[in-house]
Amino acid sequence: MKSLFHLALFTIGISLSTHIAKGWPIDPTHGFIDLPFNESFYHIQKPFDLPIDHRYSFISGVHRLWVYSTDSPLSRNSPTKPRTEIIISGYNYSSGVWQFEAYGYVPCGTSGVCIMQVFGSDPPHATTLMLRVYNGTLTYYQGPVIVPNIYDKWFKLNVIHDVEKSKVKVYIDGVLRYEGSGRGGAFHYFKCGVYAQNDDSYYMESRWKKIRVLKKCD
Ligand SMILES: *[C@@H]1O[C@H](CO)[C@@H](O)[C@H](O)[C@H]1NC(C)=O
Ligand SMILES: *[C@@H]1O[C@H](CO)[C@@H](O)[C@H](O)[C@H]1NC(C)=O
Ligand SMILES: *[C@@H]1O[C@H](CO)[C@@H](O)[C@H](O)[C@H]1NC(C)=O
Repeated sequence: MKSLFHLALFTIGISLSTHIAKGWPIDPTHGFIDLPFNESFYHIQKPFDLPIDHRYSFISGVHRLWVYSTDSPLSRNSPTKPRTEIIISGYNYSSGVWQFEAYGYVPCGTSGVCIMQVFGSDPPHATTLMLRVYNGTLTYYQGPVIVPNIYDKWFKLNVIHDVEKSKVKVYIDGVLRYEGSGRGGAFHYFKCGVYAQNDDSYYMESRWKKIRVLKKCD
């Protein structure tokens, strides 16, 4: 009887540690409050000299954003590279623990591009987090790798930013894939779409659905 009990404990111990080691999917939104989200909480940034529907569509709940490496920047005098991005301007934040959740999709061929950002940091940086795609690999800036083989499939993305603790966490399909430091700053918001970086492909596209913004309960 006693040994059976020990065996049971042992088995629980094993399954708990495999659970953590293999990164069993969890729901990262536990303990967070869903905030209202509709078109009044975001707008689209796109090449300044083009109408929005030349670089963005929203059909059946799917936001599709695309841009070419030869496109103009978002404003006439901007020195930045081309982009088409959803900017979540309705939830600027400077404190607290915030979360972005969405399903993302990157078609094969899109490379050298930022697909999601946590905007705002201390100088000289402008961002706290960039998720980029290089040749099918999703990376934190230019590294480390978050997940390989991101092309042509929907993935669930959760990004958590703890301002006071200066921490960021990235979950793919409910599994924690990156945990690192923030970069300071007192003004933040989330963005997703395509923003050309180094070694950008001629055509860049990402798709997004079921976008949610959440805030941790106090
Ligand atoms: C968006 O959500 C806000 C807050 O719930 C609401 O007041 C507003 O009417 C909604 N706007 C649209 C266009 O649905
Ligand atoms: C968020 O900040 C932007 C400036 O980047 C501003 O245009 C916008 O109105 C702010 N949003 C809210 C809800 O205050
Ligand atoms: C992506 O692939 C291209 C072509 O194979 C290669 O030239 C380039 O260096 C790769 N870029 C990265 C960041 O690995």
